[in-house]
Amino acid sequence: MTSPIEIELKPSAHPLAAEERQARLANPGFGRFFTDNMVTIRWTEGRGWHDAQLVPYGPLEIDPANAVLHYGQTIFEGLKAYRSADGSIQTFRPYANAERFQASARRLAMPELPQETFVAAVEALVQQDAEWVPSQDEASLYLRPFMIATEVGLGVRPANEYLFLLIASPAGAYFSGGIKLAGSPRSTSGRAGGTGAAKCGGNYAASLVAQAQAAEKGCDQVVWLDAIERRWIEEMGGMNLYFVFGEGENARVVTPELSGSLLPGITRDSLLGIAGDLGYATEERKISTDEWRDGNAAGTLTEVFACGTAAVITPVGSVKSARGDWTVGDGNPGPVTLKLRDTLLALQTGRREDTHNWMHRIG
Ligand code: PLP
Ligand code: COI
Repeated sequence: MTSPIEIELKPSAHPLAAEERQARLANPGFGRFFTDNMVTIRWTEGRGWHDAQLVPYGPLEIDPANAVLHYGQTIFEGLKAYRSADGSIQTFRPYANAERFQASARRLAMPELPQETFVAAVEALVQQDAEWVPSQDEASLYLRPFMIATEVGLGVRPANEYLFLLIASPAGAYFSGGIKLAGSPRSTSGRAGGTGAAKCGGNYAASLVAQAQAAEKGCDQVVWLDAIERRWIEEMGGMNLYFVFGEGENARVVTPELSGSLLPGITRDSLLGIAGDLGYATEERKISTDEWRDGNAAGTLTEVFACGTAAVITPVGSVKSARGDWTVGDGNPGPVTLKLRDTLLALQTGRREDTHNWMHRIG
């Protein structure tokens, strides 16, 4: 392990008053409020990573010719800090996020932040803004590490200057209107350029037209299909998908295999382990929209849910698609979905033994 660069602590001298912070923590929503501070680290060609600082949260000054505004070299991550019943604070698999951040950077010709520095930034900000980690059920502090190009100039090539930032936002449930959601299978043209496995801004920008069309049809989310045959299920806008076949102890928990065009979700990966712990058979394989529709009609495919850091586990209630519309199971959250959700949350909040060594204690 290389030792992370030192983060100079220059926190805000004017943190939000406790009363106002409490009001925000009581009803945080998702991504609406931000903590008092942020971390910034610079990279320049020849010098590498330097100037790591924890500073007051605030706007950036950006030159209009900054490369990121034109050519979109920007990547991000998402992870959470949870408060356990004993008051301690833990994050979930931060090194997995650090590793994926490096993979995203490689895909976009950006410099790789050392994993130890990524985790050191998370530790510094969570320790500084510890009072922003909520303690009520299902609430947490969402951490958003990201990196942007900062070179000024309009030449199309990898920039020679970058800025890493880490901000934090208290979060309640991502789907606050209940846990039913509808999917609308569509072609994945936005992912056809081959960046689906990277967490880069452009993927999300390219998904928004389909997302808006889905919303017009009363759907909450879009299911992305493979770009070539347009029938293999990949993932959703900000979540991976799981399919449950059978029932009770014989349930099989299946998720689309990593094709290179869907995001290797950390929740997805963790659930393969947790489902195994609970005695369910697990599988990573191709699943088509026809198999979903027909298995649902035959009663062999019993439950479907989405999973991700922000969404945790959210059941899919119904589907509208070119191949028909259907209700998943009886439209209610299924028992396997709920059991996996409870188990994941219990692990993340210290109510279940951490046999996989996934929790990273911070304070
Ligand atoms: N798929 C996409 C496109 C996402 O943005 C996310 C969110 O991070 C996920 C899947 C789930 O990944 P994770 O479980 O690592 O949060
Ligand atoms: C996450 O779960 O971290 C996401 O990235 C989902 C979304 C808010 C983009």
